[in-house]
Amino acid sequence: MQHAGMNRLALAVGIIAFGLAVVGCGGEGGEGPVVPPPPAPAEYADKHMPAGWWADAKIIEEGRELYIGGKNPDVNCASCHGKDGKPVKAGARDFRNGERMKMYSDSVCFWRISEGVPNTKMKPWKSKLSEEDRWKIMAFERNFGLAGKGWDTAKKDWVSAAEVGSGAAPAAAPAAAPAAVPAAPAGKSGK
Ligand code: HEC
Repeated sequence: MQHAGMNRLALAVGIIAFGLAVVGCGGEGGEGPVVPPPPAPAEYADKHMPAGWWADAKIIEEGRELYIGGKNPDVNCASCHGKDGKPVKAGARDFRNGERMKMYSDSVCFWRISEGVPNTKMKPWKSKLSEEDRWKIMAFERNFGLAGKGWDTAKKDWVSAAEVGSGAAPAAAPAAAPAAVPAAPAGKSGK
């Protein structure tokens, strides 16, 4: 009995200490070491910004409205992440940190906005924001740390937003894809 009690106390102390450590990192504006985020799970890995949106001023403006809670007060990213991307709540990601943000592909970012980050104040937003609205917010939000850039799905990197929609990206890769499975359907073609 007593033993179990002690264990529980130790656990509680541990949790509190860990919590303080986490808050400490966030509060200083330094967010600890910049490490890559985990990869997006399968259902998000192929989701990408709609064509042309990175450079679309109207979309970006709609994203800004959403981000500051202008359309729906229940969705106010700025209440934690700050209107200018400077966090106002401890632990919220600093979007001005381009070194960190550039490690997030559009899919990873979209996944995090959709599903949140477990055990943090970052909630899932998919029930309150349509997919389109989530992309609009991202089109706005990336400008804090990655001004004027967009994710190039072929290069797997952030490039100038104007370049993303230019048609250069699709031309980069297509040759490789069809070559992989040529033979199988031929035998069946008779019936
Ligand atoms: C209640 C505070 C709060 C609100 C509101 C909030 N966030 Fe966050 N957000 C956080 C915190 C805290 C983190 C850091 C989570 C972590 O430790 O990985 C975070 C992280 C993120 C990340 C990075 C995820 C990662 O893997 O590091 C993105 C992108 C993000 N938020 C976008 C948004 C968007 C878009 C909105 C509005 C729809 C929003 N957040 C609203 C608190 C908030």
